[in-house]
Amino acid sequence: MGRIVAVTNLKGGIGKTTTVVNLSAGLALRGSRVLLIDVDAQGNLAMALGVKPRRTLYEVLVDGAAIADCISSARPNLDIVAANESLLTAQPEIARRPDWARVLEKALMPVRSRYDVIIIDCGGSLTVLNLNALNAATDVLVPTTVEPFSLKGLEMLVQQIRRVKGSQGALRAILPTMYDSRLRQSVDLLESLRTRYGDLVLSPIRVNVRLSECSAQGKTIYEYDPRSRGAMDYALLVERLSERMSLGPAPPKPAPKPAPHQDISAPILSQPPPFAASAEPPVVTGAGSMLSLNCPNCGRPLQRAMVAGYRVAYCDHCKYRHQDLAAGGRR
Ligand SMILES: Nc1ncnc2c1ncn2[C@@H]1O[C@H](COP(=O)(O)OP(=O)(O)OP(=O)(O)O)[C@@H](O)[C@H]1O
Ligand SMILES: [Mg+2]
Repeated sequence: MGRIVAVTNLKGGIGKTTTVVNLSAGLALRGSRVLLIDVDAQGNLAMALGVKPRRTLYEVLVDGAAIADCISSARPNLDIVAANESLLTAQPEIARRPDWARVLEKALMPVRSRYDVIIIDCGGSLTVLNLNALNAATDVLVPTTVEPFSLKGLEMLVQQIRRVKGSQGALRAILPTMYDSRLRQSVDLLESLRTRYGDLVLSPIRVNVRLSECSAQGKTIYEYDPRSRGAMDYALLVERLSERMSLGPAPPKPAPKPAPHQDISAPILSQPPPFAASAEPPVVTGAGSMLSLNCPNCGRPLQRAMVAGYRVAYCDHCKYRHQDLAAGGRR
């Protein structure tokens, strides 16, 4: 059975949908079969992907339509069950049913085995459907901005997730979003977030206007501006979550230390990208620190991967990371 990931935070406008779009697009490029479910009546997910589905989740949950008939294709490997404002009227209807908290989980059952991962984009409030999403989820990803009020809300949300899911570790990761390292407060709060939640906290997604421009145009960040900081940050997220949830092709193992005369670009560059959609040539030269085999901070072996056109190197020990676009520099 594939995994079901709820992307949730009770706060609105903190990057949930942006994360769902660019995480799922990266996973799909990497070769995973991904289904997206929008449980937010704003219906932003389909818009951000530039698709106009005829059928929506309302028909599945209220009219009893087969979910397979309400799936639309958004990209290769990437399907969606979209939402629209009709979901607002669905919620009171669902709340009247005896099985109200498991309606979504049951609806997903017939298609679950077709996908490696189902990702649910939750709305920014405590609705019947958000609770359904939590109940259905095998994994929970919590994006959060790095601000005082967000972190207070995060504490409450984590407690709620533990209440609903028990303590079996369904909370897979906390993702700082819209991070601006020029702000002293953000740097300090990220540090306290890491002290409080440890390895659950992933590398932040930095603030990047290209991320808001791309959703306005119905494109993923890899399509709109693969050289942007936003694309690099989401490419790394794709890699880390693929690992944590054992999705798709495994990243290449660290290469053995080369002999002094050996071309050190060989180990990483000889790995073909594990996805088919990129038109970029897999082999480039002059990639600087990407070619170092060990972490420049702590000296341990770097983990490496190719995702969405990026060569990613990162250290599990000290969190050092470096990404290069395989086909050139970034902006
Ligand atoms: N890293 C980022 N840098 C700059 N802008 C961003 C970033 N992430 C998201 N945005 C923008 O912030 C706005 C809110 O993002 P998004 O819609 O993803 O949030 P959300 O949590 O899904 O909101 P809602 O709760 O309303 O569903 C959007 O305009 C989006 O393009
Ligand atoms: Mg949203």
